[in-house]
Amino acid sequence: MGLRDVTSELDVRVGACVEYETWKADPEYREILSREFDLLAPENELKWGFLSSEREAYDFGRADELIGFAERNGMSVTGHALVWHMEKPDWVRNGEYEAGELETLLKTHIDTVAGRYSDRVDAWDVVNEAVDDDGELRDSIWLDALGEAYVEKAFEWAAERTDAALFYNDYWLVHDEAKRERAYDLLSGLVERDVPVDGVGLQMHCLGTHPDPEDVRETVERFQGLGLDVRVTEMDVAYRRGEEPDEMEERQAQYYGDVFEVCLRAGVEAITIWGVRDDTSWLRTYGEFPERFTHDPLLFDETGRKKRAYDEVERVLRDARSGKL
Ligand code: XIL
Repeated sequence: MGLRDVTSELDVRVGACVEYETWKADPEYREILSREFDLLAPENELKWGFLSSEREAYDFGRADELIGFAERNGMSVTGHALVWHMEKPDWVRNGEYEAGELETLLKTHIDTVAGRYSDRVDAWDVVNEAVDDDGELRDSIWLDALGEAYVEKAFEWAAERTDAALFYNDYWLVHDEAKRERAYDLLSGLVERDVPVDGVGLQMHCLGTHPDPEDVRETVERFQGLGLDVRVTEMDVAYRRGEEPDEMEERQAQYYGDVFEVCLRAGVEAITIWGVRDDTSWLRTYGEFPERFTHDPLLFDETGRKKRAYDEVERVLRDARSGKL
């Protein structure tokens, strides 16, 4: 019995991102994944830099393995991500292309990847993190070459190749008002111009800052007001090292429960946790994060034990199922 059994009659999916190496090596990890979750997001394997080490040559081997696993286990697949300012292949980053050539490269990339999985990826993060921390459109090679229109073009190209729901995905949309409002303007422009965008992904990396669940609700409703679907796409909950609260595991559990509760009430269609077991969290390896944040942001500890956060999430899902929310 897993979380996915509790949600099977609800209109919400509970997902996890998958760390490929552990998935490949560890049957216990795979067992938790397929028992508990009904949505799978490859953590890195669909990013351009992971798919393509040489110009226009692709290696889909790992992505195919993960998507095949999801299909065998009745899991929905989130593709992450078609356009991002980070994790581009070196040949894109260092290529010094003319603007027109960059546009062609980006379109070819979207055609190739979205097209390959046209009916196997259920939702794509088409554009990831296009707004910067000052609430401006983020400076990137895409903005330089194509102007703001790159966002719209990316959605249009993707829609030509895939049946997936098409999402704009970003972090701090709850945490930071300037960022949220810039993303809102961007999306309302897309909606007004009938660009094929279906929804917004709130990453919800809650690292040292844990926004009020009421603000989560308001953010969800604000984007829904544009007629968009909303998902939580990359949730994890950590604390600043040196500022760990007493009873940290309990605090974390309450926070997970509160966020799930407002999201379920507001009709969020999927909530994805950014990892399965704490030992595989990106916070243990990424940049300076291991020194800055606590290492246990997920629902399962390194031994696969269900944490208090798991119990709270399960409780909230059960309440939703029995109509108590
Ligand atoms: C992270 C992965 O978890 C790491 O393994 C990788 O080294 C860097 O990227 N926002 C995103 C994700 O959209 O792609 C990032 O994932 C986390 C932040």
